[in-house]
This record gives sequence, structure tokens and C-alpha cells, in this order.
Amino acid sequence: MRVAMIGTGYVGLVSGACFADFGHDVVCVDKDASKIARLEKGEIPIFEPGLDDLVAANVRQGRLSFAVDGSDAIRQADAVFIAVGTPSRRGDGHADLTYVYAAAEEIAGLIDGFTVVVTKSTVPVGTGDEIEQIIRAKRPDAEFAVVSNPEFLREGAAINDFKRPDRVVVGTEDERAQNVMRELYRPLNLNETPIVFTGRRTSELIKYAANAFLAMKITFINEVADLCEAVGADVQAVARGIGLDKRIGSKFLHAGPGYGGSCFPKDTLALVRTANDYGAPITLVDTTVKVNDARKKAMAGKIARALGGDVKGKRVGILGLTFKPNTDDMRDAPSLDVVPGLQAMGAVVQAYDPEGRHEAEKLLSGVEFKDGPYEAAEAADVLVILTEWDQFRALDLDRVKLLMKQPVVVDLRNVYRPEDMKARGFDYVGIGRGKA
Ligand SMILES: NC(=O)c1ccc[n+]([C@@H]2O[C@H](COP(=O)([O-])OP(=O)(O)OC[C@H]3O[C@@H](n4cnc5c(N)ncnc54)[C@H](O)[C@@H]3O)[C@@H](O)[C@H]2O)c1
Repeated sequence: MRVAMIGTGYVGLVSGACFADFGHDVVCVDKDASKIARLEKGEIPIFEPGLDDLVAANVRQGRLSFAVDGSDAIRQADAVFIAVGTPSRRGDGHADLTYVYAAAEEIAGLIDGFTVVVTKSTVPVGTGDEIEQIIRAKRPDAEFAVVSNPEFLREGAAINDFKRPDRVVVGTEDERAQNVMRELYRPLNLNETPIVFTGRRTSELIKYAANAFLAMKITFINEVADLCEAVGADVQAVARGIGLDKRIGSKFLHAGPGYGGSCFPKDTLALVRTANDYGAPITLVDTTVKVNDARKKAMAGKIARALGGDVKGKRVGILGLTFKPNTDDMRDAPSLDVVPGLQAMGAVVQAYDPEGRHEAEKLLSGVEFKDGPYEAAEAADVLVILTEWDQFRALDLDRVKLLMKQPVVVDLRNVYRPEDMKARGFDYVGIGRGKA
């Protein structure tokens, strides 16, 4: 199959490289010329484990290439994927579909022969209908079908998620389009991956419902963690105790500083807006959004309390700034609330992140960026674990203690065990660990 991927970001580049690895001919298109120039030089513009080797191998074998101008690729394509960003629209929280519709306009002018236009971007219910109308209005003669195929990959584990997904969702009733989609994903038959064929609107909603459910699950355990602190219970044990129940499941039950990232915050908000527009409000998700926003803002206060409530003039060392480990993605990361919150209270912030510094420097001001975890601990009054990168899981704690001004650790990811930290002489605060 010939594939044109419009948008070469986290999703477009991973999907494009994986489809090429499945044996298809893929051109990844992006209007950001500097991104394409870097890719053509063999550089990967984002940090995603394994992506450099996958891209290099498929470029070498002639199945993957890059372009700023996607005209030829779109004309020749059996399937054109739209994988552009759908950020929150400023002011109202609806998904901003400007990039999606611009891509649809471009595609419309170029369709040649039966073409499947696939929306991989996360888009609100009804967007597929809109894309169809845009293309139909410009090209009444064109032979095409618009399909919804939401992406469920997680940054940090994106390649494995794309190649071994729990399921693939395909929203279309067009039989020819279904066959093209089956062919594209045929290599997944080996693992017997379920392909859920459904209507387009249903498919669009599945993506939002999935993200909202996961965001709600995280927010649930976060509130239980607060209760654990109040009553003297251990949220880790509660999570295990409920997670072993197969109806609940153990994933997404890690209490922390509140969810962030490029998807959950904007997608939960967009779902709330859509539900309100259609007169069918989803109060649970609405509440989840509010609880999570408040939680991220409250974390600076939690850190201050570990120092007796006052951080004025105090030096705070932060480990991890990205919204989760194994990515350089800083979009809506909890650090974007925590760091300015601490600075507003008069703290001096020094921080280390293994891959996020480049992005963090654009978004956080007044931070002293350090080159390693021990440098971030040096002379600190408190050390905060904000993102659970593997390298923070086995720190030389005696060295950390010697370096710090005073041995106070706030572990917002529950990486360490309270009793171990106490035994080593730390004043330690985790999340939801009133008592073991
Ligand atoms: N990042 C994730 O983990 C993830 C997971 C699942 C779904 N999604 C969804 O996938 C979509 C893309 O997300 P992302 O994180 O890859 O975004 P991104 O910002 O990393 O990438 C989007 C890319 O599209 C390019 N672009 C925009 N308009 C274009 C056009 N007309 N022609 C060519 N290129 C264009 C941009 O320059 C950018 O490089 C979003 O809807 C998102 O919600 C993201």
C-alpha cells in the first residue's frame, strides 16, 4: 500500500515508520521544513525509544521518505492519514480543528483515483462528516472515503503500542475503505489483534471515551491518596488491593501529582465541551478535569509543607520535568504548574530532566538547569521527584544526602519506600502514604 502521512509529529512519525516497517511505502509530510530537513539528515526531532533505529532502517530500505510538499505522495496514495495536532482552542477548550481542516483542503485538491482519507488525529464526533464535506465541495468528482482510525499509542512505548496494540478501531461503513484498512493492518493478524469496525462517529467517540476513562481512573486514585493521608492508610496497598480485581485492573492506579501530557488534559476538556453542546453533559469527566487542574496547582503547597510551609529563599531540586518518563514532551506537564508555583512562593528552583531540557527551557523561566540528578540535589533544601525516570529509581541516596543542605525528599511518584527513606535518615513525603 502507498501511504501519505500528513503531520510528522509524535503520532505521524511513529505511525509512518511502523507502517513502513510493515512493508508499506510511506511518505511522512510536514509543513515544518526544519523538521523535515532534520529527518532527511537522519536526525529524529523527538525523543522516543527505538524510533531512531526504526526510521533509519526503513529509510535505508527505501520504504520511508519525508517531504514538505506532499502533492506527489497524496496523488499516489491508497491511504492519506491526517495526523496533525488538535490542541485545545484558546478560551473555550474545544478541540482546535484548524490544522485538520487545512489538511483536508490540501488533500481535496490532489486526490487521484480511489483514496481513503484516514483521520488519525483525535477529533470530536462529526469531524469526519466535516472533512467529507470539505473534500466533496472542492472535488465533486473525487472517489474517496473518509475513515476514522484513532491512535492509542503512548509516548515512551509508542512503537510497541503501535505494533502490538490491544485493538485497532476503524470507523467506516464503506466496504472498499474497510478492505484498504484491513490490508494496512494485515501484519497485526499474526498477533490476532482485534480490529473493531464501527461507524465513523462511534469510532471518534471511542477515542475520547477511552482517554476520559483513564484520566478518571488516575484522578480517582489521586483522591483516594488524599484520603489515605488523612486517615493513615497506604494508597499503594489500596491500589494493589483493588487492582487485583479483574473488573478494576491494576493499570492507571498510580497516585501522583495529577495527569498531564499531550492528550488527557485537552481530550477530557474537549469531551466535556462536546457533551455540553449536544445537551448530554458528562459530569464525571467535567469533575475529573477540575479535580486534576486543582491537584497540579496544589503540589507546590505540598512541597512547601514538607519544609514547614515556607519556601521563601529555599532551594528546591527537581528531578524530572516531562509529563512522564521516556519522552521529551512537556505539553501540560505537572512541572508547568509546580515550578512556577514554587517560584511564586519565593523558592529558587534547580532541575534536571534526562531528555526534556530543550523543551522545558522554552516553557519555564528562572530555572537553573542541571546536568544530572546529583547536581540537582546539590545544596537543595528539598529534593522533589516529579517524573519517575528509571535513573531516579536507584539513586545513591547516601550521596544525595551528603550533597543536600537538609535531607528532605518529596516523592510525588512514590518511587521510594517510606520506611527505607526514614532508615537512611531522610525526612520523606510521598503521595497517599499515611501509614504502611
Ligand atoms: N502524542 C500522543 O501521544 C498521541 C497519542 C494518540 C493520539 N494523539 C493525537 O494525534 C494527533 C497528533 O498529535 P502529535 O502529538 O503527533 O502532535 P504534534 O504536534 O507532535 O505533531 C503534529 C505535526 O503536524 C504538523 N502539521 C500541522 N498541519 C500540517 C499540515 N497541514 N500539513 C503537514 N503537516 C502539518 C505540525 O507541523 C506537527 O509537526 C493529535 O490529534 C493528538 O491528540 C496523540
